Amino acid sequence: MNQTLRKQDPAVAGGFVPIAALDHASIVEAYRRWAGIYDTAFGGISSKARLRAVSMVNRLPGKDVLEVGVGTGLALPRYDSDKRITGIDLSKEMLRKARERTRKDALTNVQALHEMDAEATSFDDASFDIAVAMFVASVVPNPKRLLAEMRRLVRPGGDILLVNHFAAAKGPRWWIERALAPASRALGWHPDFAMDAIFGADDLARIEIEPEPRFGIFTLVRLRV
Ligand SMILES: C[S@@+](CC[C@H](N)C(=O)[O-])C[C@H]1O[C@@H](n2cnc3c(N)ncnc32)[C@H](O)[C@@H]1O
Repeated sequence: MNQTLRKQDPAVAGGFVPIAALDHASIVEAYRRWAGIYDTAFGGISSKARLRAVSMVNRLPGKDVLEVGVGTGLALPRYDSDKRITGIDLSKEMLRKARERTRKDALTNVQALHEMDAEATSFDDASFDIAVAMFVASVVPNPKRLLAEMRRLVRPGGDILLVNHFAAAKGPRWWIERALAPASRALGWHPDFAMDAIFGADDLARIEIEPEPRFGIFTLVRLRV
């Protein structure tokens, strides 16, 4: 693989206050349970938004791509073969599925799949051209720290892409999302996740937002580094 690994940097791990009760242990436990049925339960409804994100990655010029929270690797076969993909995830069981897929589909452009915390990785600064996180921002314990880490890992001129469900500001969805919020731990994600939980005011002024087509619930966000 192209990227050199470095020791965990405690400075990367500090500095932000977690927004909610999802901790690493509950994420690992939730995705241990989800891994076997994830593709069936979630693969379908998320596929269009995932494809839009991967298509954007493929259109961008950089070759070194970090997929954060790679999960079972549903996106891996969709990258162009000239993109060099590194995937990371906290969940052994999800990664096992991603490794099986990589092997089965002979995905030679997948450079490595690491069990690693996306909020405090062991990669050098500026190791990648693109960092993409699909359906991950509302899952991690500390989204602002995730974004800071992705920013650290992307070369100047590169891109951060996020696909996520962001909470509605009003209407019936607002009520449903708030009603589901106490189930965060069991679900393994935050249904009431708002954009300002990850982006600061400066980023909110700069991000490019591509909403999901009509009735969709996932938004693609691009932040140029
Ligand atoms: C909803 S799944 C999304 C999987 C995949 N991106 C997809 O498109 O299907 C969220 C994934 O993020 C992973 N995850 C959550 N917190 C993480 C963290 N701090 N570091 C790395 N992976 C994390 C989970 O283990 C899980 O595989």
